[in-house]
Amino acid sequence: MLAELLPALIAEVELATKLLASAPRVCILTGAGISAESGIPTFRDNQTGLWENYRAEDLATPEAFARDPELVWSWYQWRRQLVADKKPNPAHDALAQWQYHAQSSHQQVTLITQNVDDLHEQAGSDVIHLHGNLWGNRCSQCDTSYQNQSRRTFDSASTLSFDEELINCSRCDGYIRPDIVWFGEALPVQAWQTAEEAAANCDVFISIGTSSLVYPAAELSQLAKQNGAKIIEINPSPTPNTIVDITLAEKAGVIMPLLVEQITKL
Ligand code: OAD
Repeated sequence: MLAELLPALIAEVELATKLLASAPRVCILTGAGISAESGIPTFRDNQTGLWENYRAEDLATPEAFARDPELVWSWYQWRRQLVADKKPNPAHDALAQWQYHAQSSHQQVTLITQNVDDLHEQAGSDVIHLHGNLWGNRCSQCDTSYQNQSRRTFDSASTLSFDEELINCSRCDGYIRPDIVWFGEALPVQAWQTAEEAAANCDVFISIGTSSLVYPAAELSQLAKQNGAKIIEINPSPTPNTIVDITLAEKAGVIMPLLVEQITKL
């Protein structure tokens, strides 16, 4: 409920609603923070348990995979198990509802995510993934796609097979790897082009649950700003991003349903 927020935050939500209600084109970038309320830890939270001594930057690289593919696979299998039973939260649901509503109100709402989970899809959104897909695999040498393993396949015993034994590509014998964009690798061309176009041409850019530290995704808000867009940030720990016009310093699962309720009833 809007009335439960602090007065200063209510004023910012009202400002954001006004801006969004009259914006023909909105571009939204989500990061790990939007899935935090679904129970998926963010990258810059301390990792727990088995992986607490590792940083994402030390595991999510082609060099780490070349050095120790079993270790990298174990981390991804752990992450797959962690994510497998997670469900969209009210922030994912609100975004899907907004996109649905936008079809009839002729507002363009482009949703881009850095997340490799599929919670936006589960909520019913149309989403562009910049960093790949946690459930996909491809050959580390010839790039042959091995997408046939469904999300469910990794829920149970078959999850372990990757930990115990590396799987080789049937074409070139290279090791199969997760289909994720690792540090130092290029983003998928089509996804990045669509994201750049949406950011450059939007009236309002919303950054939700991202530390805005990882490039090139973090460039998108700058591109939007350079082209005259207003920038809204939703994050309980606002980033030091100086180009933000409206800061909504609360959890995405609190702000997004309120915002979307206001926008869709106008
Ligand atoms: P980070 O882990 O860097 O940042 C998560 C952000 O979410 C932080 O700024 C938190 O304050 C914020 N946050 C936490 N809970 C939130 C909530 N309930 N609502 C809203 N915000 C919340 O995650 P990303 O910015 O997504 O890349 O990280 C970018 C990339 O770095 C990831 O895609 C990943 C990682 O290494 C690859 O895997 C290639």
